[in-house]
Amino acid sequence: MISVHIINGPNLNLLGKREVDVYGDRSFDSFLIDLQNNFPGLSITYAQSNVEGELVTMIQEAGYQSDFIVLNAAAYSHTSIAIADAVAAVPARTIGVHISNIYQREKERHIDLLAKSCEACLFGFGLEGYRLALEFIRSQPDSSASPDR
Ligand code: DQA
Repeated sequence: MISVHIINGPNLNLLGKREVDVYGDRSFDSFLIDLQNNFPGLSITYAQSNVEGELVTMIQEAGYQSDFIVLNAAAYSHTSIAIADAVAAVPARTIGVHISNIYQREKERHIDLLAKSCEACLFGFGLEGYRLALEFIRSQPDSSASPDR
């Protein structure tokens, strides 16, 4: 089974309560249950941290344990060379997600230091971006499946 670790960065624990005009009124915990129900063929785990170094450690661990990482590093996407280095270092295929369209927002959000090391990125789809990332992952060959004889 393809394994996916979803990692959310700072302030995304406040989804549903935080700037609902930008990020929507749904908590990620409730959305995650929908994702897990809608993708029974994927093994989906989830973690969130507000701390840069913890995100680096999560990427290092998931990067060797999971086939894919779906990563929204939130504000650290615009500032963190350490997180960009972690994404580049690990073998897991990483899909970057931003809920909002960062290119329609303040200038400081227009640079995503992680995008270069991600296989693909989604931005501006709302929470739907995570679902689209999983849709793509589901379409990929399962490297753990035994070959047909
Ligand atoms: C975000 C965009 C970032 O600029 C912001 O700091 C976030 C969330 C998004 O999902 O749209 O916290 O990554």
